[in-house]
Amino acid sequence: MPGTEYFGAEEKREVNEVLETGCLFRYNHEHLRQGMWKATEMENEAKRFTGAKYAHAVSSGSTAVTTALAAAGIGYGDEVIVPPFTYLATIEAVIWMGAIPVFADIDETLCLSVDGIKKALTPSTKAICLVHMCGGAADMDGIMKLVKEHNLVLVEDAGQALGAFYKGTSVGLFGKSGAFSFDFFKITTAGEGGLCITNDEAAYDIMHQISDHGHSHLGNNRGMETHPIFGQNFRISELHAAIGKVQLQKVEKIRADKRANKAVLKARLAEVDGITFRHMDDPEGDSATFLNFFLPTQELAQKTMDQFAADGIAGFNYWFTNMYHFINQWDHIKNKNSASKLPFHVLDCPQDYNNLDIPKAQNVVGRLISLGVRGTWTADELQALGDKMVASLKKVLG
Ligand SMILES: Cc1ncc(COP(=O)(O)O)c(C=O)c1O
Repeated sequence: MPGTEYFGAEEKREVNEVLETGCLFRYNHEHLRQGMWKATEMENEAKRFTGAKYAHAVSSGSTAVTTALAAAGIGYGDEVIVPPFTYLATIEAVIWMGAIPVFADIDETLCLSVDGIKKALTPSTKAICLVHMCGGAADMDGIMKLVKEHNLVLVEDAGQALGAFYKGTSVGLFGKSGAFSFDFFKITTAGEGGLCITNDEAAYDIMHQISDHGHSHLGNNRGMETHPIFGQNFRISELHAAIGKVQLQKVEKIRADKRANKAVLKARLAEVDGITFRHMDDPEGDSATFLNFFLPTQELAQKTMDQFAADGIAGFNYWFTNMYHFINQWDHIKNKNSASKLPFHVLDCPQDYNNLDIPKAQNVVGRLISLGVRGTWTADELQALGDKMVASLKKVLG
């Protein structure tokens, strides 16, 4: 699954170039760099691949989501609709920005649904932080219609979905701002790293300013220029950016390999009665990082996971019980446990997080199993994995 599968001489060369110059900082020090600006080069690759007008690399996907929210003007007291099925970072980012997360239901797209969002709307809803889960896009036609009707701000957490497009447009470009992760587990990795994209110049200015203590930056230089806003240090290092740049140069190849392998395994699973697949409005736009399938019931999904383990097949996620991706395990968030007082402790919140009405999410995530798709599987490995999966599933489903 992760881009590390594709690490080669190119990543090593780029990292060595940074080490040889000794310039690990993305700004200034022109005399050291021998013309190399790895963060800028990574951003240029991101613009090329996604078609975004602006891209800004940061230290992680988590800081990218925070930066994207800030760039979209989300702040103190704003109600932001979020999914209960995502990585924790989405919710954390909303809370760190001083906003109020409002959970809405999802559907078989694995993303927020139009119906779910409609039910969660209040007169104070300001924004949606939409998460494109498990490598594929949400129902963007339906969601964009709703966004326009209700005059909402859309921010896209595409932490898991670099490489996913919807009817030709990259995820991250439907709303005001979008965020990607380059952590160790993603289709392209920098070890740690993140990236924000936007087509809006003002939003881009906030991105680079807020992620570097509010500096307004003169090109790649920072020094005596003004601070239009205050910020933080969410900067990416040149070492990480060097790897991120090369991985972005490889993303088309990585995605093509994954798509081919996923198609083979999906066809194998389709042999098994009772298995259904994640709904995607535009399957052509899939990044193919995961093969997502549903069992008829939550009980059968759990049994399947046990059977896969007993049969020695690895690489599956059962998000329903994992600690990071589903609200059932987020007691610290539901109980608002934090180190210090934050706006969501004192402001009105339209929901009791311990009594949320999200039946579809419970059903969908309870039945969902996701297999991380590797691009480097050989034909023999694919065949063997397909055989084993089908055999295990038949034991469970009869
Ligand atoms: C949807 C989503 N958003 C944000 C993040 C955070 O990214 P990072 O681990 O790079 O901070 C992740 C990480 O898995 C994610 O899946």
